Amino acid sequence: MSHFLQSLRDAAPYIHAHRGRTFVVVAPGSVLASASQAALLGDIALLHAMGVRVVLVFGARAQLEQRLEERGIASTLVGGVRVTDESALHELQAAAGALLMQLMGGLSQRLVGSPMAGAQMHVRTGNFVEARPMGLIDGTDFGFSGRVLDVDQNGIRQALAAGDMVLLPPLGFSLTGEVFNLSAHALGGAIAARLQAEKLVVLAPEASALRQRYETQGGHVTPEQAETLAGEEHDVELKAALLAAKEAVREGVRRAHVVDGALDGALLAELFSRDGSGVLVSASPYDVVRRARPSDIPGITLLLKQEASHGTVVPRTRRQLRSTLGRYIVVVRDGLVVATAALTEEPGSGLLAVSALAVHPAYRGRGLAAQVVAFASEEAQRQGLLRLGLRTTQTEHWFLSQGFRRATPDEAALFGQDALAPLRPSWLLVRDLPAAGVTAGVASVGRAGQGLRGRSAVGPDAVEPRAVDPESAAPRSETIDPDPSTL
Ligand SMILES: CC(C)(COP(=O)(O)OP(=O)(O)OC[C@H]1O[C@@H](n2cnc3c(N)ncnc32)[C@H](O)[C@@H]1OP(=O)(O)O)[C@@H](O)C(=O)NCCC(=O)NCCS
Repeated sequence: MSHFLQSLRDAAPYIHAHRGRTFVVVAPGSVLASASQAALLGDIALLHAMGVRVVLVFGARAQLEQRLEERGIASTLVGGVRVTDESALHELQAAAGALLMQLMGGLSQRLVGSPMAGAQMHVRTGNFVEARPMGLIDGTDFGFSGRVLDVDQNGIRQALAAGDMVLLPPLGFSLTGEVFNLSAHALGGAIAARLQAEKLVVLAPEASALRQRYETQGGHVTPEQAETLAGEEHDVELKAALLAAKEAVREGVRRAHVVDGALDGALLAELFSRDGSGVLVSASPYDVVRRARPSDIPGITLLLKQEASHGTVVPRTRRQLRSTLGRYIVVVRDGLVVATAALTEEPGSGLLAVSALAVHPAYRGRGLAAQVVAFASEEAQRQGLLRLGLRTTQTEHWFLSQGFRRATPDEAALFGQDALAPLRPSWLLVRDLPAAGVTAGVASVGRAGQGLRGRSAVGPDAVEPRAVDPESAAPRSETIDPDPSTL
């Protein structure tokens, strides 16, 4: 019971965040052919019930191949793309038509005990996609295989705004009235990009194995990494899913998720839990390190309070934090402050002091502190400062691993008065920074070198769309009470 309550409460911020957003879900035929189809449709219906505007694009490759085999029809693939002749197109229409009806049926289910019991959801389909023939490529005529030419964005938007789910087969229609075979991945990606959807979610059978490989970084990869992975991937569906995800993000979709469609509940776990269950493709990992805002104060206070009980940092009251907020930076994941530090310029010392560095215990070992230090280094360099400096009691070795060294007596004199020094003898450490200009790349190399570890490193992964604006915080010049603690 308590586990259920906790899970429901943990999901609540996502339910708020996803409501009214558009998610394009791509379900390849192989996933729909699996035994978990009913559960998957139930979960998609649940998304709709929670206010998500769902466009479900399905593929029918597995079903088409089965029909071709059963009827002894030969069909060729060139570079993984089908050469769709008339008989293949005929079979595809039959396969996609049957699947369309099957999915409509599944999504209409309202039996007692099913996610949509007691509710009614309308599913709309239509000729929303205009296609053109792929044409002749390197001497191969791909026949009725096509590419997306245009998407009736308004039509889809209107259907979604009316509260309907949009269900689309992997087919497009041309000005001349022909029907074309489209890749469901390319179609889903194109629709997500045109609608500027909040998310593209691509279901792939092997996604959980891929996720395991990226567990240390919370399953997050950048579009560049997704492209590399796709190049190495042997599983055709996973390759297509990664490429579609990468492409969608490059086209402006904020997040693309590759989720194991054959794993019961993976879709909901990906979308309604902080750590997800699949692979998340999104842009810059660093945007999320930003200056603290007043809404971060409770999170920072909690983090520092926890650490203060171990004696590694000095606790700050909310009042102290409010008055010195301009110094704080945070790493936020899904609205939770997972790391923080204060940056204070020691006047006339050429030194930017780092204090109150703390990473949430559940998010350690993912490079977050290294990111915070990289941010501090860049900040110092931007201000033309020469060094980072800090006091530490228990964490010296971690800082040594990050390029810090013990301060010389001359350097120690540069540190400001530490109100707590008599009570808490500490090591004084410094990290030299190359001069600005030479250094722009240095901090970046440092960051890149730290790698991406942890989804929170990914940008405002968040409960949701957060424009991260590092400059939006309280001005650095804000000085009220000097922060008494420097640890
Ligand atoms: C120290 C701290 C900031 C590191 O944060 P982090 O995001 O986990 O750091 P990273 O992921 O970059 O590095 C983790 C590595 O540092 C090591 N590490 C953690 N604390 C350490 C310490 N006190 N001394 C030496 N190494 C330490 C971990 O074992 C881990 O090693 P691994 O990568 O070989 O497994 C974090 O552990 C923390 O918040 N500690 C408590 C508060 C604190 O000490 N703050 C510093 C005040 S001056």
